[in-house]
Amino acid sequence: MLPRLIPLVLLLRTLSTNGAKKGCGGTYTAARGILQTPNFPGPFNVPLDCEWVIDAQHMMETNSSIVVYLTQLFVFEGLTFTEYQHYGNGYNINPKIIHTVNETNISKIRWVQSFQSFLVIQLKLPSLESAHIRVLNKFLDVFGFNITYEINTGIVRPNSCTMMDCGFTGVCYDHYTKFTCDCFDGFAGPQCSEGPKSVCYNAGVP
Ligand SMILES: *[C@@H]1O[C@H](CO)[C@@H](O)[C@H](O)[C@H]1NC(C)=O
Ligand SMILES: *[C@@H]1O[C@H](CO)[C@@H](O)[C@H](O)[C@H]1NC(C)=O
Ligand SMILES: *[C@@H]1O[C@H](CO)[C@@H](O)[C@H](O)[C@H]1NC(C)=O
Ligand SMILES: *[C@@H]1O[C@H](CO)[C@@H](O)[C@H](O)[C@H]1NC(C)=O
Repeated sequence: MLPRLIPLVLLLRTLSTNGAKKGCGGTYTAARGILQTPNFPGPFNVPLDCEWVIDAQHMMETNSSIVVYLTQLFVFEGLTFTEYQHYGNGYNINPKIIHTVNETNISKIRWVQSFQSFLVIQLKLPSLESAHIRVLNKFLDVFGFNITYEINTGIVRPNSCTMMDCGFTGVCYDHYTKFTCDCFDGFAGPQCSEGPKSVCYNAGVP
């Protein structure tokens, strides 16, 4: 049994050291991936100052861009998206803040796109209060974010979703080929907008 476990252990070690810069955030060079706050969906230690650096310099050929899809975003303060021509090793060139999340635009913005080589997402939070969107009785114990990014040829994939699109009664997932809302029990439909009444109707249907 034991020898069989070794490759898995090695793989896990590789994954956990990759991108663990200061215990949170990290540097991301793969063509796509998931960015999330420590312990997501649970709470994290505050004060928090984390940086997720998407480094696309090796892929910046023909019209490449970095797109971040805000699939699961619950933080509405202290979260900024800054693009750079160069970032790191002591020198940063051409910083430009391209998005700042606030309480209003958190429900409107589905994705953020940069045509620069580096996109740096910074989350700086003194407390957990604004790390935590509450909608009715849902998401009481969900903190931070779990979002995806992709480095591609300038294309933003259509029909991406946010928690808003899933009616706050389901969770938006990125499957890289498509986005779907995974509805909570009792809710249905592409935007989880049917229910909880429809459970009663559906119960009568074989
Ligand atoms: C790059 O973008 C320009 C302007 O949008 C377009 O004309 C050109 O065809 C694109 N090149 C590639 C390889 O996609
Ligand atoms: C979101 O709101 C912040 C704070 O008002 C603002 O600085 C930022 O430009 C807004 N972003 C967008 C894309 O509207
Ligand atoms: C959030 O950003 C939007 C868009 O930029 C702006 O209209 C709004 O006033 C901002 N709200 C707050 C609370 O800063
Ligand atoms: C984080 O998001 C990805 C992509 O949408 C999803 O596959 C994954 O299940 C999510 N993780 C959690 C803990 O929700």
